[in-house]
Amino acid sequence: MHSFMRHLHGSSGEAPTQETKGLVLDEGWRYDLMGWFHDTFSFRGNWHKLRQRTINLARMQPEEQVLDVGCGTGTLAIEVQSRVGRAGRVAGIDPGAQQIARARAKAARRHVPVEFQVGVIEQLPFPDQSFDVVFSTLMMHHLPKSLKRQGLAEIARVLKPGGRLVIADFTRKQDRQGWAARFHAGGSSIQDLVALVSDAGFERVETEEMRPPRFSAFPGAGIVRADKS
Ligand SMILES: C[S@@+](CC[C@H](N)C(=O)[O-])C[C@H]1O[C@@H](n2cnc3c(N)ncnc32)[C@H](O)[C@@H]1O
Repeated sequence: MHSFMRHLHGSSGEAPTQETKGLVLDEGWRYDLMGWFHDTFSFRGNWHKLRQRTINLARMQPEEQVLDVGCGTGTLAIEVQSRVGRAGRVAGIDPGAQQIARARAKAARRHVPVEFQVGVIEQLPFPDQSFDVVFSTLMMHHLPKSLKRQGLAEIARVLKPGGRLVIADFTRKQDRQGWAARFHAGGSSIQDLVALVSDAGFERVETEEMRPPRFSAFPGAGIVRADKS
């Protein structure tokens, strides 16, 4: 299901999938279908809960500027738009052309003005100090370590002074137990993320853990929240 460095072209002449050392998902509606299936039958709604908690931790205000890096099919970015209102701005980037096409279609259907574009964390297509908040959900485990460092430096560049970073990821595979250990998707060590975020110059680094509930295959998750100095 995963594919590296694909060069697919959207059917409507959209930008092709962008090359990266990260693990690109380019599944469009299939990603949403898989997510719905897992969350409904295996995770018992915990993926949705993780997304809500991640959004709440950013404590967004109306009119703020928000970026979702590795936005996939745009579910979080579309939800966030209602927190910042029409005077705010929400952007999402992902290297997968099909992910971005699906995100745009969902936003258009809901009449939500989110800017989705094909792009990569290693070179964010935005000027310095553009955003109040940057999210990265379930994507850090898609990057090799050197790219995590490079990507966090890029996030620091596009955040305004005092801007907030919120990263969420599944618990890494070797730390899972029970049913959760069978779930195939990767994850991150929260301690590693804290070290990387601190090395990138962020301050007030806080963490939260979402433990795997009993009788669920949800792998557990960690959230890191930090401020740009
Ligand atoms: C598991 S998905 C998570 C998508 C979404 N954030 C969510 O929570 O559903 C990970 C995403 O990271 C993207 N990705 C991989 N390499 C990337 C890179 N270099 N820059 C930005 N995103 C990348 C993939 O294409 C994929 O859509």
